[in-house]
Amino acid sequence: MDYITLNNGTKCPLAGIGTFLMEPADAEEAVYNALKVGYRLIDTANAYMNERAVGRGIKRSGVAREEIYLSTKLWPSVYAKADEAIDATLRRLDVDYIDLLFLHQPVGDYIGAYKAMERAVKAGKVRSIALSNFPEKQIKEVIDACEIAPAFVQVEAHPYYPQTALKAFLKPYGTAVMAWYPLGHGDKSLVNEPVFVSLAEKYHKSNAQIILRWHTQVGNVVIPGSKNVQHIKDNVDIFDFTLTDDEISKIAKLDRNKAYYKASKVALLGYLAFAPDFDKQP
Ligand SMILES: NC(=O)c1ccc[n+]([C@@H]2O[C@H](COP(=O)([O-])OP(=O)(O)OC[C@H]3O[C@@H](n4cnc5c(N)ncnc54)[C@H](OP(=O)(O)O)[C@@H]3O)[C@@H](O)[C@H]2O)c1
Repeated sequence: MDYITLNNGTKCPLAGIGTFLMEPADAEEAVYNALKVGYRLIDTANAYMNERAVGRGIKRSGVAREEIYLSTKLWPSVYAKADEAIDATLRRLDVDYIDLLFLHQPVGDYIGAYKAMERAVKAGKVRSIALSNFPEKQIKEVIDACEIAPAFVQVEAHPYYPQTALKAFLKPYGTAVMAWYPLGHGDKSLVNEPVFVSLAEKYHKSNAQIILRWHTQVGNVVIPGSKNVQHIKDNVDIFDFTLTDDEISKIAKLDRNKAYYKASKVALLGYLAFAPDFDKQP
């Protein structure tokens, strides 16, 4: 496994597993299988309603807690009581600390919640803090109002939407990009682009492995989601080959600067109103 060094000096694995849209039993199994084949980064969120299952997968794997880089996210409904929400998240995951804690969406009292995350860093409950789905203006607002620069911004990123402008904006802060939808949520037209077919033949890898290797070579951390044991194995087996500069340039030509998902104002209001009881999960 290769690692990235973050702006606070800590290290994060370049590839991990995401657990979005996974029922608790599937998330537990995927986390267990991933850890067994060498993954060390796991991404979940309050809103995925599977943090307890992720915690069980970690325990069942027998991998030592300190070897694992565990990432989760606070949902806007808990921003106003973020100190308590961080403790509740720790309890659900059944861990003493979280490696990386995000604010999931840029709505509600995100400045207050970010300050609570800073307190949690000082209290040793959280190692690194970060933002997810925040546009530049709100990232800057957080940076100006708070002490600790975000270690990551987690956003949709893949060859059709490489986030070139955002990455240039983040560079002075040393903030890294963690890519969600790294495989375009499995979109076959992306995965089967001819450039990936020919590179897969050249390197004896799958098209998905070529895409994930591209991400890590352009500096993104990837958290592909999968319930398929073979895909889980493949998605971390990407560090034994290196794409050439010419191949990276060919992949850059796929840039359409177009996201699969764009949150509308209505969607953001929906996020603000969505307030499930996160403790009601098996
Ligand atoms: N912060 C946010 O708002 C946000 C939003 C969305 C996602 N995320 C995070 O990002 C993670 C990744 O996103 P995602 O899971 O939606 O999209 P993704 O990783 O781009 O794609 C997942 C899809 O690709 C398939 N797949 C995975 N590995 C494959 C392989 N080697 N070959 C072929 N197909 C493969 C999976 O199916 P199989 O199960 O069959 O392998 C699944 O259908 C999430 O799990 C979550 O942790 C965050």
